[in-house]
Amino acid sequence: MEPEHRLLSGTLQVAMLVLVLCAVLLVWVLWRPRKRSIRAPGIEKIPGPSAKTWLAGHIKELSSRDATPFYRSLENVYGAVARVKGPFGMNWLYTYDPVAVYSIFVKNQACYDELEWFAKSANFFLGPGLLSVTGDQHKKQRRMLHPVFSTKHMRELLPIFYEVSHKLITGISSKLQDGPDDVDVLNWLGRTALELIAQAGIGHSFDPLVEETSTHPFAAAVKSYIPLYFSTPGMVYHQMITFLDKIGVPSVSRWIVEYSPSKTIQDLRNVTRVLHDTSADIIRRKKAALENGELGHGDGKDIMSVLLKANSAAESRDRLGDDELVAQISTLLFAATDTTSNALARTLHVLSQRPDVQKKLREEILDASDGNDLPYDVLDALPYLDAVCKEVLRVYSPSPVNYRQAIQDTTLPFSSSVKGTDGSLIESVFVPKGSIVMMSLSACNCNKALWGEDANEWKPERWLSPLPRTLEEASIPGPFAHLGYKFALLEMNKLPGPPSKSWLSGHAQGLTSREGDVFQRMIETVYGPVVKLKAPFGANWVYTYDPVAVYNILTKDGSSYDRIGWFVEGFNYFLGPGMASVSGDTHKKQRKMLNGVFSTKHIKNLTPTFYEVSHRLVSALSQIVEDEPKELNLLEWMGRTSLEFIGQAGLGISLDPLVENAEKEAFVGALKNYSPLFFQPESMLYHQGLAWSRKTGLGLGPIWEWVIEHSPQQTMRELRSIAKTLHDKSTEIVMSKKAALESGDLQGGNDIMTILLHANNEASSQDKLPDNQLVAQISTLLFAATDSTSNALAKILHVLCERPDAQQRLRDEILAASDGNDLPYDVIDTLPYLDAICKETLRLYPLTPIGHRQAYRDTTLPFSKPVRGTDGTLLESVFIPRDTIVVYSISACNRNKELWGDDADEWKPERWLAPLPRAIEQASVPGPWAHLMTFSGGPHACIGYKFTLVEMKIVLSLLVSNFTFELSKDKPIHWNNSGLIFPTVGPESSVPEMWLKVTKYRHAA
Ligand code: HEM
Repeated sequence: MEPEHRLLSGTLQVAMLVLVLCAVLLVWVLWRPRKRSIRAPGIEKIPGPSAKTWLAGHIKELSSRDATPFYRSLENVYGAVARVKGPFGMNWLYTYDPVAVYSIFVKNQACYDELEWFAKSANFFLGPGLLSVTGDQHKKQRRMLHPVFSTKHMRELLPIFYEVSHKLITGISSKLQDGPDDVDVLNWLGRTALELIAQAGIGHSFDPLVEETSTHPFAAAVKSYIPLYFSTPGMVYHQMITFLDKIGVPSVSRWIVEYSPSKTIQDLRNVTRVLHDTSADIIRRKKAALENGELGHGDGKDIMSVLLKANSAAESRDRLGDDELVAQISTLLFAATDTTSNALARTLHVLSQRPDVQKKLREEILDASDGNDLPYDVLDALPYLDAVCKEVLRVYSPSPVNYRQAIQDTTLPFSSSVKGTDGSLIESVFVPKGSIVMMSLSACNCNKALWGEDANEWKPERWLSPLPRTLEEASIPGPFAHLGYKFALLEMNKLPGPPSKSWLSGHAQGLTSREGDVFQRMIETVYGPVVKLKAPFGANWVYTYDPVAVYNILTKDGSSYDRIGWFVEGFNYFLGPGMASVSGDTHKKQRKMLNGVFSTKHIKNLTPTFYEVSHRLVSALSQIVEDEPKELNLLEWMGRTSLEFIGQAGLGISLDPLVENAEKEAFVGALKNYSPLFFQPESMLYHQGLAWSRKTGLGLGPIWEWVIEHSPQQTMRELRSIAKTLHDKSTEIVMSKKAALESGDLQGGNDIMTILLHANNEASSQDKLPDNQLVAQISTLLFAATDSTSNALAKILHVLCERPDAQQRLRDEILAASDGNDLPYDVIDTLPYLDAICKETLRLYPLTPIGHRQAYRDTTLPFSKPVRGTDGTLLESVFIPRDTIVVYSISACNRNKELWGDDADEWKPERWLAPLPRAIEQASVPGPWAHLMTFSGGPHACIGYKFTLVEMKIVLSLLVSNFTFELSKDKPIHWNNSGLIFPTVGPESSVPEMWLKVTKYRHAA
């Protein structure tokens, strides 16, 4: 190359280099301010109190025994976000802002972990248990321990909890033999909490819970561990252990602790040694027992035995090492003892201050238990006990503050902006790696913005009615499970389910069509027990027959659900405020009054009335078939009989003479037509419109009512006129009965309405039902009692025609027991084959194949076993946002093979004559009768089921002993699915009817 060229090229290269450097500099200059502007302000910009010393910051105020005033002043002066000072001038963030707390615990949880020093020193002293490991190891341990803490397993531990609690009662009672005395309850509760976790957790007993007992060394070690651990020398050592671990010489810690001159540290070392040695010994013996197939104390149901079994069955990568197993014992005891005993002590303290609550709670428990130990599900669902526990844990959180440390740079958002120290508005704060954030659980739990103005008051009643909407909408990630909204919605989308063909109607058509049973069986077979379906207009429905889910919807979490709002509005508008059309406290009040009215004692008194009506039916049929067998529309006869049953036994009036070709009263015709019109698609739209217009709060309700009244649609006009006929007749009945009651003419009546009026008269003014509610009960009872009973009777007769052997066996049983006479209540109610036929038919063919509820607050629906989501993950529960409709399949529950056995789809009355499968006995089916869902369950379960069963048994016994029934030759019976199953002649017809050949049964002379 030429020298000039070389020079040029060198100059060019320098110029290029300068250019590149300039560009880099420019990018850096431009980027730097941008980076600053996108990074949120730091914690130092958040206002907060100044500390007295740079060295200790606010440590003394935060951890003193009397820290409450300091926390209160933070809340009062700075609100939900404040900066506090850690040691060495560090800035810590204190918060109870719901969005921030949600971000730390849920949304951004990968950015935070336990405090490093806490985890490190817990590891040092307790070993690698759940409290001391982080990251993947923590995940692995949690995965293994999760099933051990499942509801199923808690249920199995109940006998242990009872055994220990009974010992506590005996222990305290022995002190009170000479009368009331002061008792150190904290001491007793501490010993009880330890014994509970010892027996249930590790299958060992440390304390017989009798008064004079010397403390077991292990129990003493557990007791002294926490005070030593959190003492000042303890804290210094924790920091030192963390530091030594960080600089790569962890073994020096052991040496320092071993030879520490501090008495506290020596005690801590000795205590942890006792904990470790005993735990290791327990694990050794448990492992040996497991290998020898021995169950040990508590039948091997304790948490550690279950964990050991799960561990040995796990894949090697998931298996916990021996040191981890040993550490779980110390961790469990450490985590469970003081927390539980302090919460229990707090509860007793509050109950002593609130004797009214104490009395109400005692009454609830005694009412439910009758002096016996309550089963898990009953205990767990006692509303007031649940409310008291929740309220104690809300107001007096045993662990008021929770710490986390950022393990990477992150940003923490707030629900509303915070005014920074420089006057700027801060919407989120930059949290650099290593920063400590403190969340005040007690301030979260008593946040007035979420819980309302009375947030600081201890009020268990708040849990008995819907929680404030503000709270439902906040994403509180706590144990009362308000997982974040969007996050949670996504979860529901993961449920498996069939695609929907139409956005407009979703799966409504498939589920409620006349062939709905085929659709239901398809989704059960293809998608399993928890399915996502599409509602009209694209919303989600959850369809389920999982026993735990159904139990939660109807009973355990029943206060989160009610009947579908627009359905109830529709009923209320047309039938008035009867039991099917009211909710909340009004429903409770009505139900309380009517529960007494539908008691076994009263139903028993109705037996002669049921016989009288059934004999009239037999006479009418006998006249028709006296000379020769005839084909009769049995559905019509069963309908008329059911109506007369509810007329006579329910209202004390006759609604049908039960003779051939009798004339129908207008009222009876109205009643028959009501249900088909109410469930017409156009009526459904009107009901929804009514519910919506009333809900808007814009006063649109009356406008919509006007629209219904003046609707050009025939259906709506008919429905209005029917409702008016029903209302007029019901009013007439109530008024004449009330007049008779006042003049003393109603003494002898034992029909349901008469008893109700007597009960209402005697009730206190707050429990009394007003006239409009009494009137509405009549329409409601007539509506609920007639078609259901008649269709059930028709179904039984149909099945008996298909199974003449069962028909004859039933006849033989009845004739042998009755000898031609009416059987008394107790005998007819317990005839085994008659009972088995009723149960089996109502099991396999429940009259209402599905039930539905609407969540009126956000809640979580757990399953009995995990469901595989569409993304392959296993879901153990699903978040149910407020307003979601959940559909529970009554028919699928009743024929669930996992509970009833492989023959669940067969009609086999014999299954009721032998013990039922253990699985169904243990499944906590919420139905009120025979582990069946036929009468639904929970607060809206059928109130008339005892009534219907007796009437069905009486009429069947008389029919089967006087006639034989066979299928018609040319009128095939087809059962249709709808709100209520009904028969037609073949699948094409839509007219409800069922023809059978009826022959007089001639008794052998
Ligand atoms: C085989 C016959 C019957 C069946 C299968 C049946 C079924 C049901 C079901 C499944 C429910 C619950 C509805 C829901 O969860 O929303 C219910 C509620 C109800 N049933 Fe029945 N029922 C029958 C007979 C009767 C009779 C004879 C009466 C009255 C004498 C009656 C009165 C009621 C009432 C008043 C309710 C509403 C309860 C409330 O909301 O608190 N039922 N029934």
